[in-house]
Amino acid sequence: MTVQKIAWRSFLPNFCVSDQNPSPKPKKPAVSKQTSFQRLSPSDLSSSTLSEDLSNSLAGSNLHVFTVGELKVITQSFSSSNFIGEGGFGPVHKGFIDDKLRPGLKAQPVAVKLLDLEGMQGHREWLTEVIFLGQLRHPHLVKLIGYCCEDEHRLLVYEYMPRGSLENQLFRRYTVSLPWSARMKIALGAAKGLAFLHEAEKPVIYRDFKASNILLDSDYTPKLSDFGLAKDGPEGDETHVSTRVMGTQGYAAPEYIMTGHLTAASDVYSFGVVLLELLTGRRSVDKNRPPREQNLVDWARPQLKDPRKLRRILDPRLEGQYSEMGAEKAAQLAYQCLSYRPKLRPAMSSVVKTLEPLQDFDDIPSGPFVYTVPTDLQKENAKDESRGQREMKKDRESDSHRNHRDRRNHRTRSPKSQTMYSESTALKRNLRNGLNSLVTPEN
Ligand SMILES: Nc1ncnc2c1ncn2[C@@H]1O[C@H](COP(=O)(O)OP(=O)(O)OP(=O)(O)O)[C@@H](O)[C@H]1O
Ligand SMILES: [Mg+2]
Repeated sequence: MTVQKIAWRSFLPNFCVSDQNPSPKPKKPAVSKQTSFQRLSPSDLSSSTLSEDLSNSLAGSNLHVFTVGELKVITQSFSSSNFIGEGGFGPVHKGFIDDKLRPGLKAQPVAVKLLDLEGMQGHREWLTEVIFLGQLRHPHLVKLIGYCCEDEHRLLVYEYMPRGSLENQLFRRYTVSLPWSARMKIALGAAKGLAFLHEAEKPVIYRDFKASNILLDSDYTPKLSDFGLAKDGPEGDETHVSTRVMGTQGYAAPEYIMTGHLTAASDVYSFGVVLLELLTGRRSVDKNRPPREQNLVDWARPQLKDPRKLRRILDPRLEGQYSEMGAEKAAQLAYQCLSYRPKLRPAMSSVVKTLEPLQDFDDIPSGPFVYTVPTDLQKENAKDESRGQREMKKDRESDSHRNHRDRRNHRTRSPKSQTMYSESTALKRNLRNGLNSLVTPEN
């Protein structure tokens, strides 16, 4: 595909380099390391006051500033064969940086995300992502290698995660079922990522914890991605951050939807939802199920404390290959994380401590689980996938019609994952109806 021009130049802060008049500075990778004490916040850079170069503001973050031309080389002109997915932000393409591109930038595969939405909200999310991920480094956060900010173009360049998102691995019908050990590894690693954010010197609330934002390395090491909605945590005596409600249907904490008061406990609730998805193999919201089962938390939470009931709701694709003791402990943990009273939810550091011993277990019924896809099933799966893709395309088309109508006031972030911006009264109505849905564009 070609990189499209986006018609929102008039909104843009005056800091992006243009192809015609490139600034020499942004191309240099930064050199010194920024400590967490000096971490820059999105609130330190407002779009109206920002006049100096973003790369100067982020000096020390080791981010590379790419040109559109370079990213075309890296992704073979955003060719469809390199397309790996699309969320609310825009399409993502695989690419390859070779060692001749830049001194100091090693040869590696990358994922290039292109912002394709109109309006300030997309730009703000892009900037928030660059500011947070550019400065935060941890084994369980995806590495942002660089960005492109040229004329109207906004792109992000990440390390490539070979197994894609947890959402793909857990819910796509044609994939091999995730083994129990991988599920526990993912839960622990993601919990460590969140604990790191919550316990940083200047804490961060992630706000968009969900299966599609957990990316997986070849050995199933999970890394959090998508910091576009992240927020600095409360400071001093404050108990919460007041925001407009934003996030994803099925994952956001009920009190946050009702009040807009954001705390680290809102992330803990979302973690509980993902843990439940890992245990049951069900999506947080699934409109294809009977009404009583559509909202995963409402349906599953009451069954978590009774081992007999728990056994009935565990993912059938595990085919009994799980640790009973581990499942019971993980279910109890999910129950606590999903408490309606935020104060009763554990801190992420204590979630990590609970999950650590669940990595070693010796009560799995039989030997290691080896799954070979039978030829018939492969054919069936291929059919499933193309059927799924057709359905997704249809969904996108109808969503895109809807979004065009809505765009004057609201931007729908992800048709697929139901991230959206809507009036808070609607949110509250949905909450009463048992469907957590969100959001209004943020100031
Ligand atoms: N660094 C990466 N490495 C490999 N695949 C990636 C990477 N980043 C994103 N992807 C893939 O690209 C697809 C789109 O990701 P993206 O984060 O844009 O949207 P999403 O998380 O699916 O939806 P949302 O907009 O609600 O966050 C996902 O399927 C994901 O697996
Ligand atoms: Mg995402």
